[in-house]
Amino acid sequence: MVETVTKALGTLVVIGQGYVGLPLALAANGAGHRVVGLDLNRGLVDGLNAGRSHIEDLNDAHIQQMLDRGYRATDDVSVIAEADVVVICVPTPLSPDGGPDLGAVKGACVSIAEHLKPGTLVVLESTTYPGTTEDVVLPILESAGLRHGEGFLLAFSPERVDPGNPVYGIKNTPKLVGGVTPRATDRAVGFYGAFVDQVVSMSGTREAEMAKLLENTYRHVNIALVNEMARFCHDLSVDIWEVIRGASTKPFGFESFSPGPGVGGHCIPIDPNYLSHEVRRQLGYSFRFVELAQEINSTMPRYVAERVSGLLNAQKKSLNGSRVLLLGVTYKPNTADQRESPADKLAAELLSRGGEVLYHDPHVDSWLPGVERVSTEELYVALASVDVAVLLQNHRAFDFSRMAEAARTVLDCRGVMTGENVERL
Ligand SMILES: NC(=O)c1ccc[n+]([C@@H]2O[C@H](COP(=O)([O-])OP(=O)(O)OC[C@H]3O[C@@H](n4cnc5c(N)ncnc54)[C@H](O)[C@@H]3O)[C@@H](O)[C@H]2O)c1
Repeated sequence: MVETVTKALGTLVVIGQGYVGLPLALAANGAGHRVVGLDLNRGLVDGLNAGRSHIEDLNDAHIQQMLDRGYRATDDVSVIAEADVVVICVPTPLSPDGGPDLGAVKGACVSIAEHLKPGTLVVLESTTYPGTTEDVVLPILESAGLRHGEGFLLAFSPERVDPGNPVYGIKNTPKLVGGVTPRATDRAVGFYGAFVDQVVSMSGTREAEMAKLLENTYRHVNIALVNEMARFCHDLSVDIWEVIRGASTKPFGFESFSPGPGVGGHCIPIDPNYLSHEVRRQLGYSFRFVELAQEINSTMPRYVAERVSGLLNAQKKSLNGSRVLLLGVTYKPNTADQRESPADKLAAELLSRGGEVLYHDPHVDSWLPGVERVSTEELYVALASVDVAVLLQNHRAFDFSRMAEAARTVLDCRGVMTGENVERL
């Protein structure tokens, strides 16, 4: 049965088997594609072939299920020659100068060009600035001789994966697709349509690339808006959480965002900067909303350190020499993902001011050097002994009322705790 479907849907090579590429491999494998996961990380490849998952959204049973249906992982780029479809899901971090680092995308494209067979559809999913697909990817793919149209087809389809989201996954999150030509778009729409409920055609690659950046910039800017409001609401003695609760009752024209200790993860602190960097590079002027949002969000950890210092001051203590317990150090709740977590910056700030920093996070077994871990068993004793506890992440596993009761003083950066000893951001 699997053999029959496989012949119908052909071979898919997914380049990059991380948070984005591995769920894609699972979905396409489930739809009947013969899937090969290509990744340069040898240890990761060996783990996948042995049935081990390295991302939280997929467990070992998912990997075994894929293996049983013919999936395999490899670090051998020549496998691209077997592909009917190649999807690129490699990282696009920021370079040291704040611009996009397309090294992994270019590396993947060079490998594709060397092994591309006529008739292949190539799709870029990595988040990047508008123009990347046609100005960077296309010339590399054509460099080995095949031309777009007759030789191969190319499209961009932004990834919208939200790790840890129990409601929205690949199947029920609409997928945008923009091809270099309408034929490329149609081919990519057909490919994704086999395992995504709704595929939306875009007029071109640039529009699809920009749509993803609009989505992330929208979040970045709105989070910055409430973060800035949180700062002056505190100075005005207005409860920002109550303000947001009230505004959220409006059934139209308002979407609620929450303040916090800063933004983290793979997207929000990074992707909008591609855009502002490219606007400045190509057009010579600034994308002011993004730059302002960046300034506000990136200074939140320092602002939280100031608030900790203020709480200690009210007790006639200095931060220098005080013990501060950070609760939840991941960038989002209910995950172990610590990428770009603002907790790192806050810990560095507290340590630099002479604070003794401890942390408790049921998802994180080891964190920064010089920061002592408090286990779940030790939590309530530690809360009673430290000078200040700071709630950074509202993990489901936390018992907020018991934590508030046990603590001497808490700074709650998530607006979920109550009590006379609790101060909210
Ligand atoms: N993680 C998310 O929540 C998320 C959401 C939306 C979009 N994205 C975007 O998707 C892209 C991939 O992100 P991710 O989170 O999956 O990254 P990741 O770091 O989890 O995985 C990327 C994988 O690619 C591999 N790799 C790097 N260069 C390679 C190459 N030349 N050939 C083969 N393999 C290579 C790495 O070894 C790694 O395993 C990024 O552009 C990111 O911005 C990520």
